[in-house]
Amino acid sequence: MSDRLSIHDNRTGNKHELDLSYGTHVDAGSAISASDLREIKTSDHDFGVLVHDPGFMNTSACKSSITFIDGNTGTLLYRGYPIEALAEKSTYLEVAYLLLHGELPISSELDEWTTDITNHTFLNEKIKKFLDGFRYDAHPMGILVSALAALSTFYPKSRNVHDQDIRDRSIRRLIAKIPTLAAFAYRYSVGLPYAYPDNDLSYSANFLNMMFRATETKYDADPVLERTLDVCLILHADHEQNCSTSAMRAVGSSDADPYVSVSAATAALYGPLHGGANERVLEMLAEIGNVKNIGHYIDKVKQGEFRLMGFGHRVYKNLDPRAKILKELAEKVFEVTGRNRLLDVAMELEKVALNDEYFVKRKLYPNVDFYSGIIYQAMGIPVEMFPVLFAIARTSGWLSHWEEMRKDPELRIARPRQLYTGYAKRDYVQLASR
Ligand code: CMC
Repeated sequence: MSDRLSIHDNRTGNKHELDLSYGTHVDAGSAISASDLREIKTSDHDFGVLVHDPGFMNTSACKSSITFIDGNTGTLLYRGYPIEALAEKSTYLEVAYLLLHGELPISSELDEWTTDITNHTFLNEKIKKFLDGFRYDAHPMGILVSALAALSTFYPKSRNVHDQDIRDRSIRRLIAKIPTLAAFAYRYSVGLPYAYPDNDLSYSANFLNMMFRATETKYDADPVLERTLDVCLILHADHEQNCSTSAMRAVGSSDADPYVSVSAATAALYGPLHGGANERVLEMLAEIGNVKNIGHYIDKVKQGEFRLMGFGHRVYKNLDPRAKILKELAEKVFEVTGRNRLLDVAMELEKVALNDEYFVKRKLYPNVDFYSGIIYQAMGIPVEMFPVLFAIARTSGWLSHWEEMRKDPELRIARPRQLYTGYAKRDYVQLASR
C-alpha cells in the first residue's frame, strides 16, 4: 500500500501526489497536509486549494497522544487506558498526572504530585477583593472566567511559557486553585462566607468542604459522595479536541500564559452547546415529571418539536461510555441521598428511547450529560455550578494539551485561512456621492 494520495486536477490535467500521515492505528485515521494542497493551482497567481471546514468537522489540528475516542464502538482511552478502568480504580489526581505526564505515577511520584497540588490550594487574599466587585447574583461561571484571568496578574513569571519549571509550577497552581476559585465563586454568589481549603482532605473532599462547610470546624465528607465526585472529575477530565480544548490551544499558541488560556477555555465551556447541557436535562426530566408522561414526550421529540436533551453526540454513534458509568454511579448516590423520582424518569426514558426506531436509526444514545445533572443535584450542588464542575475537571485536560502543544515541533500560532467572498478591489466613494 502506498502512503501517498493522488489527486487529479481536472482543471489543468495535472496529477499531484500528497503524502499521508497516520494515527496509531486505522481507527485513528490518516491525514494529508493542508499546506500541500496549496501547490494545486491553475496558474502562478492562483492562491491554491484550501480546505473549507466550518466547525472543524474533519480537520486534524495537531498530533496528540493524550486521548483517543472511537465513536462507533463507544471507546474512550486516556493515554491508552480505558475510561472504565480509570473510573473504577484511579483517583482524579492520579488521572491528572497520567494525562499530563503520559504514564501512571509510581507511589513516590503520586505522593509528591499530591503534596505539590495540596500545597497550592490557597488563593492570594487579594482575590477576595476582586470577587467583591461582582454583582450579588453573578453567575459562578462568569466569576470563574474572570478570576482565572486575574490570577495571571499574581504570577507574572507564568508569561515565560518557554521555561519548563515555570510551566510546571503554573500547571500545579491551576489544578490546585481552580476548586478554591470555583467554590469561592459559588459562596459569593449565594452570599455565604468563604470556606478555606482543608489540606488534610482529598482533592474532591476538599471541594465539598469549601462548598458546604458551615459552622463545623472539620468537614466530614460522605465517602460515597466524595468518591462519586472524584469519578465525575475523572470522566470529564479530557475529551480530545473539543471546543474548549481547541480554545486553549488557539489562545496558548500565541504564547499567552496558561492562566488566561484556561480562562478562555472556560469561557468556551460556558456555552450551552458544550458544558451546559446537563442543566437542560434536569429541566426536561422535571417537565416530564412522571414515567407515565414519557410516551407523549417522546412523540413530541419525534415530531421535531424539541430534542431529547442528554441524547446524541457528534462523535459517539454508540453508547457514550461515560454515560454507562454515571448511570451505575447514580444508583449508589441515591442510596445515600434518598431516591429522587427524576432518576426513575431518566431510566425509563432511556429504555423507551433505546427501543424506539427513531433513536435507533439515528444512532442516538445517552451522552455524559444525561446522568451527571441528576447526580450533582442529588449531591446538593446547584445547577449553576454544573459547568463549573466541568471546568474543574477539564483543567487537567486543557493543561495536558497545552503542555503537549508547547513541546510540539509543529507548533505555529493558530491562524486559520478563509474563503473570501466579498468585493474585489473597488474605488472609495465620497460621502456626498453615496
Ligand atoms: N433528540 C432528538 N433527535 C436528535 C437528537 C436529540 N437529542 N440529536 C440528534 N437528533 C436527530 C436530528 O434531529 C437529526 O435527525 P434528522 O436526520 O431526521 O434531521 C439527526 O439526529 C442527526 O442530528 P445532528 O444535529 O446532525 O447531529 P449532530 O452530531 O450535529 O449533533 C448534538 C450532536 C449533541 C448537538 C445533538 O445530538 C444534540 O443536540 N443533542 C442534545 C443536546 C445534548 O445532549 N448535548 C450534549 C452533548 S455531550 C457534552 C459535550 O460534548 O459537551
